[in-house]
Amino acid sequence: MHKGMITKTRFLFPTFAVVGCMLAVTMLVVYLPAAIAAKKPMEKAFPSSEKCKRCHLRVFEEYEASAQSRSIVTAPFRMTLERYLAKADKKDQAMCFQCHAPHIAEYPELLPRFIKEVQSKDPHMDGVGCPQCHLIHDVDAKMHPPVPTFQLGKTIFGGYDKAAENLAHQSEKLELFRDSQFCVTCHDSLPQTSQAAKDLPGWLGDWKTSETEKNGQPCQSCHMPEAVAESANGEKIRKVANHSFPGRFGKVRAEAVELDFSTSVKGKTSQVDVTIKSLVPHNLPLPHPGWSRVVVDLAIKGKNLKTVYSEQRFYQRVFGGVDGKETVLDFEAKKVLQDTLLKPEETRIEKFTFPTPKDAPSMDVVVTLTYAPVHGPKDFLKAIEQDAPLGQKDRAFQTVQIAQKKTNVLLKK
Ligand code: HEC
Ligand code: HEC
Ligand code: HEC
Ligand code: HEC
Ligand code: HEC
Repeated sequence: MHKGMITKTRFLFPTFAVVGCMLAVTMLVVYLPAAIAAKKPMEKAFPSSEKCKRCHLRVFEEYEASAQSRSIVTAPFRMTLERYLAKADKKDQAMCFQCHAPHIAEYPELLPRFIKEVQSKDPHMDGVGCPQCHLIHDVDAKMHPPVPTFQLGKTIFGGYDKAAENLAHQSEKLELFRDSQFCVTCHDSLPQTSQAAKDLPGWLGDWKTSETEKNGQPCQSCHMPEAVAESANGEKIRKVANHSFPGRFGKVRAEAVELDFSTSVKGKTSQVDVTIKSLVPHNLPLPHPGWSRVVVDLAIKGKNLKTVYSEQRFYQRVFGGVDGKETVLDFEAKKVLQDTLLKPEETRIEKFTFPTPKDAPSMDVVVTLTYAPVHGPKDFLKAIEQDAPLGQKDRAFQTVQIAQKKTNVLLKK
């Protein structure tokens, strides 16, 4: 009896094992290809923009020169990400990548690799590369920040109806690509996952009700201006949207504001009234990163063009952190302490009064609008400087002029 039982169990085990194995094999055969197809390696699903260069040389070269192509390679990004990761909950650690390398949504398990790539300073993968935009099929705007949803396959989405056939991909027109919502997905939300962040204002301001938007001019009309060229090497000449994404840098700047001023000399005191008319359908500047600001600078030059008076005013959003103290790290923001951003299409008047220069036959009045360099706590600025291959010469430390106007005013004795 004893023996039999043993034999029985001995026999039962292998039987189970065989049936189990067969089941497992069947399941593998049936389900595994589906699982593999749904999960291509990241390099396959989001090939490097270099792969598109072969046929879209012009677009590639424009893109390569754009800020969009540097979304995970700047020293300020590395240093801010480091500070964010040091404090963020484990479940929220992918948040910055949602916009700076949005394919994280499809490969959340590769987060450690995304972080390593950033830290390497010379990432092999793109942040916002060609496929990261051209595989977007939809946007889940209910999420905060909104999440782009991808359709991974052979089809590339874009703005063309009936694109010419080619050997690399199929093409499909999506209205989304000509719509502001496409850009707003990544260009409007405080970088926080919490619901509370929703109560803090977005970056763009009331862009939806701006004249520009109502006139049917989406973001693309200014930031991807139409050119006429080859859409792909050897294809016929047609309209192609510019991919250098001019913004803080590039041509679009000249159309940002109308700047004017009048001067009145009243004895010992003088006054300059500056009128700044924004031609832009969104806030200026946009308040992310948290240190973004535009400076209105008034300089009065007297004898020998020596500056005898100067004053600066800032257009910015100042955030308060947990302790209520000012912070330039917007992921810490709990409230807005001050908001002087130039609102969409707003006309702002700035009045400056100052002592009339003495002993000079005339004075020069110079008004300048610039994007200011990065600012913040000393250790933060030092960290950026040390991390940047060009040190103090990094773009982050440079001012960018938006507009300037000067006049010479005669002074009566
Ligand atoms: C909702 C999308 C979104 C999220 C989330 C987001 N960013 Fe950004 N980030 C942008 C966009 C868009 C710009 C370009 C802003 C501009 O120039 O107006 C930008 C610009 C920046 C810049 C300045 C440009 C540069 O690369 O030096 C830094 C630094 C930066 N982000 C860091 C971060 C960090 C760190 C996080 C996470 C804590 C983060 N961002 C989260 C969209 C986002
Ligand atoms: C930030 C998102 C973004 C990135 C990155 C991007 N594109 Fe585009 N691309 C667009 C949008 C939006 C349009 C549609 C613009 C329009 O029609 O107004 C477009 C249009 C196109 C078109 C069709 C031309 C047209 O005018 O509709 C081609 C071709 C193209 N992109 C190729 C590329 C290639 C190649 C890259 C990488 C080198 C790239 N794109 C990177 C957003 C992007
Ligand atoms: C073998 C050459 C080739 C390669 C490689 C290639 N494309 Fe294209 N692509 C074309 C041609 C040809 C067209 C059609 C152009 C036309 O109709 O004027 C096109 C059209 C497009 C369009 C417009 C689609 C539409 O309906 O609006 C986009 C966007 C685009 N390509 C993006 C990409 C991206 C992103 C990559 C890299 C992942 C890529 N292409 C790689 C040849 C190529
Ligand atoms: C997937 C997220 C994403 C989408 C979609 C997106 N952007 Fe961006 N964009 C970014 C990020 C991130 C940066 C910041 C890059 C950097 O400097 O680090 C940026 C930078 C820019 C800049 C340069 C800003 C500057 O300071 O000069 C412009 C202009 C711009 N984007 C316009 C657009 C437009 C127009 C669209 C829609 C056609 C668009 N973007 C769609 C993420 C996105
Ligand atoms: C009527 C033209 C126009 C339209 C439409 C427009 N912009 Fe701009 N935008 C500008 C100009 C001009 C600047 C440059 C300001 C400067 O350099 O002083 C700018 C600056 C920017 C910048 C970079 C500068 C910063 O302050 O951080 C981003 C990013 C941007 N716009 C995104 C958008 C998005 C997203 C939309 C759509 C909701 C949009 N823009 C619609 C004209 C426009």
